[in-house]
Amino acid sequence: MDAVIEVKDLMKEYIIVKKESGLRGSIKSLLFPKKTKFNGVNGISFSIAPGEIVGYIGPNGAGKSTTIKMLTGILHPTAGSIKVCGISPQADRKAVVRKLGVVFGQRTQLYWDLRLGESFELLRRIYQIDQAAYEENLAILTDVLKLQDFMNTPVRQLSLGQRMRGDIAASMLHSPSVLFLDEPTIGLDADAKHAIRNFIKEINRTRNVTVILTTHDLDDVEQLCSRIIVVNNGKIVEDGPIGSIIHKLTPHRMLVVELQKPCQDLTTPHATVVKQEGLKIWYQFEKESISASELIAALSQKLPIQDISVKEPNVEDAIREVYKTTATV
Ligand SMILES: Nc1ncnc2c1ncn2[C@@H]1O[C@H](COP(=O)(O)OP(=O)(O)O)[C@@H](O)[C@H]1O
Ligand SMILES: [Mg+2]
Repeated sequence: MDAVIEVKDLMKEYIIVKKESGLRGSIKSLLFPKKTKFNGVNGISFSIAPGEIVGYIGPNGAGKSTTIKMLTGILHPTAGSIKVCGISPQADRKAVVRKLGVVFGQRTQLYWDLRLGESFELLRRIYQIDQAAYEENLAILTDVLKLQDFMNTPVRQLSLGQRMRGDIAASMLHSPSVLFLDEPTIGLDADAKHAIRNFIKEINRTRNVTVILTTHDLDDVEQLCSRIIVVNNGKIVEDGPIGSIIHKLTPHRMLVVELQKPCQDLTTPHATVVKQEGLKIWYQFEKESISASELIAALSQKLPIQDISVKEPNVEDAIREVYKTTATV
């Protein structure tokens, strides 16, 4: 199947003015600015198939928002090519925008002075959305995002979570086939997060909408994304199915054992004691060299065990590994 998003060797160069310290320095920087170039996105390529939900993740300043801004036509790339639904956002922004929904968690496209419902109506007129499609979409969005209680509330009075749900609805009124969400759950309460995650699953399942999600919330990633692209310093450091990235980055497993009474010799082959708190012992082992059940069998031969649990690594552990291995000064 043809890719819905195709990105090749994408680069964005920013010019930054280096400020010098002190008053004299500030004046000097103002009169004779020292400009340096820096690549916010530094040669990124990927391809996304219709219906994928991709987590685009990485530390602050990695280049996530810059990528999304280029994909949605807000920023022009310095080099490289982009195709969204076969169209270049640079060549024909209007055509691309019709296919896209975009939500930036930190900004809103709603109108502060209007009620939420009126904001939607205004957007319908501005974007000339077909009335029947609009009504059908609005009904579904109201239901899945649970907007009914505040449809008549002025946007300025909405809580952050309500506003975000409103913003996501606004981005979907024109039935886009691709949805970009930049930090959609940042600062939200559990209810709003739940509604948003549910909504993403729903539009993906029922309409095959492709979703690109940047987030700091690894629960979002774990619950929604089948694939993750990890960026750091403007480059892709990992791209693949979430399970295999976790597996690749975290070969270690942890077995937590609680003893009935203190013991002198805790050693066992194929596992290392990495932590001890009273009667609780943390054994680290590699899945490749011993299975959890073999290790449990070996330990229970030797130690009076009260309780035992295996800790599987999660996305958070895997991502921490990525940051560790790619951190630069
Ligand atoms: N308008 C800009 N001018 C100069 N530098 C920028 C600008 N926008 C972003 N940057 C820099 O580019 C890098 C990537 O930024 P961004 O894409 O916002 O990262 P992320 O969204 O992953 O946190 C950061 O170092 C950021 O400071
Ligand atoms: Mg960002």
